[in-house]
Amino acid sequence: MDKKIDPKRTWPKGYEPKEDPGEDLSIRLGLMTNILNKKTEKKLNTDIFKVMATRRSTRKFSKNPVEKWKIDKILAAADTAPTAGNFQGFEIFYISDKETKEELVKAANKQAYVNTPLVLVFCMNPTRVKLDFPAKVIMKFSIQDATLAAAYSQLAASALGLSSIWIGMFDEEKVKEIIGTELRPTSLLCIGYPIKKRPAKQRRQLKELIHVVEKKD
Ligand SMILES: Cc1cc2nc3c(=O)[nH]c(=O)nc-3n(C[C@H](O)[C@H](O)[C@H](O)COP(=O)(O)O)c2cc1C
Repeated sequence: MDKKIDPKRTWPKGYEPKEDPGEDLSIRLGLMTNILNKKTEKKLNTDIFKVMATRRSTRKFSKNPVEKWKIDKILAAADTAPTAGNFQGFEIFYISDKETKEELVKAANKQAYVNTPLVLVFCMNPTRVKLDFPAKVIMKFSIQDATLAAAYSQLAASALGLSSIWIGMFDEEKVKEIIGTELRPTSLLCIGYPIKKRPAKQRRQLKELIHVVEKKD
């Protein structure tokens, strides 16, 4: 791709998609449609149910980097998540350097596995949510927007043969300072290749999880 900075580009400085997402954003503004639809370099596990059933968090990652085309897809996947009023009340901080990752490890209770090949910080951005509701509701929407976006990225990473660890335990103020924002971070998503592929974890029985509500006549 041309390294010259295009003023009309749809991606930020410091992150450049492998493939140009194209100029036609009329289909879904802001969504890197071309990236999502692009034929992949490898055959993927695209059965969403299989992806869900086999996803397993990891804390032991290999040093292998995440391919650029996979990073593109993980970021584009976040952009497909539903958001309150479609206002996209969240932001993603893409951590591209080693030093910042090491600082994030410290801010995350010294969880060393935060330092993975791909680190994304999802933040709330309630100011984007232009709905006439009380501030408390807007905050709730924004936290849900950021969380859903991260979950979509996490599933996309699994579909791409990667693994991840969702980090919720961190010092919010420190993370804000490290990434240089006033926005409240909701989760760190740390992605890479697992050293070992492990089966999905047990969950409770559906009968314990699901509560049927049925009004008696
Ligand atoms: C809201 C939330 C916060 C989490 N925070 C952490 C964390 O700070 N550190 C960590 O090692 N794992 C964290 N995890 C990962 C969970 O421990 C993991 O998802 C859980 O054990 C289920 O395993 P699975 O993802 O393989 O199904 C978090 C997950 C969620 C959803």
